[in-house]
Amino acid sequence: MKIALLTSGGDAPGMNAAIRAVVRTCIYHDIEVYGVRDGYRGLVDGDIKQLYSFDVGQMIDRGGTILGSARLDSFKEEKVVAKAVKNLRERNIDALITIGGDGTFKGAMALEKQGFKTIGIPATIDNDINGSEYTIGFFSALDTSMEAIDKLRDTSFSHQRCTVVEVMGRDCGDLSIYSGIACGAEIVVTSETGYNESAILKRVQKAKNQGKRHLIIVVAEHITDVKELAGKIQENTGYDARATVLGYIQRGGSPSAFDRVLASKMGIRAVELLKEGHHGLATVSRGLHVDSMTLSDVLTKEINKPDLYESLQKLR
Ligand code: F6P
Repeated sequence: MKIALLTSGGDAPGMNAAIRAVVRTCIYHDIEVYGVRDGYRGLVDGDIKQLYSFDVGQMIDRGGTILGSARLDSFKEEKVVAKAVKNLRERNIDALITIGGDGTFKGAMALEKQGFKTIGIPATIDNDINGSEYTIGFFSALDTSMEAIDKLRDTSFSHQRCTVVEVMGRDCGDLSIYSGIACGAEIVVTSETGYNESAILKRVQKAKNQGKRHLIIVVAEHITDVKELAGKIQENTGYDARATVLGYIQRGGSPSAFDRVLASKMGIRAVELLKEGHHGLATVSRGLHVDSMTLSDVLTKEINKPDLYESLQKLR
């Protein structure tokens, strides 16, 4: 048996730990393993080479992905997918493990549709894969945003300011709400809460009237312009306000212990699912326990997650 693997979409801390686990588990089971450069682009271009145990040494703690990543919009087109399948078949590769987010899984489903076996491993800082409680990279990105917001709190307290901070997550508010809980934010605004500017201003005004020295507002990306919001807070509430966009620092850095262990367990499971004859599946997290679901279910079927928005109401 020969297995290839790739990382695709936005990189996430722990992708390297997953690559390492896939490569080492393949070698353990006498399976030849191949790395594809730069996601689906490398698959279409035939940029594929065999990997050995030493290729994945000294990397469990490294952020990013040693294989490189890319977003390839044209991977929706049948003829582009067919070229990828041809490249894999020419090398006698039997299956592909794809590590990434929802776009990566859609690519895997397109390959399955053309008769090529795949397994997906969820890795994205957004934690937006419905069927997986956590995705590889989420807790590392959370640590990064928590450390950054802690620093903002120091200066916010000294200067009696309101700090408005934008957190990544695409259309999912998980990174924002978890950051808000971890940093003791007073307000968290995400697609789940909706954006109600006058309610935010009222809440900030109330905090000012109560004599609160400083305030932290976490806003998920794509909700509003945080600089404009800070300006409105300053105009209307008497707080001096500043905005910070955390941006891409959340994607980098060494993975947390949780992400290294989750990535290792998912990498092992992905290889063993293929070895047992399964395909068209994704590994999913139930905490640190690893299960599997079909690729289409994992994108659509939501599992119950803790309601942290309710917790925030109790804590502020
Ligand atoms: O999916 C991860 C992510 O960092 C999102 O949080 C963000 O919206 C997006 O990727 C940014 O994408 P790009 O790297 O293409 O700018």
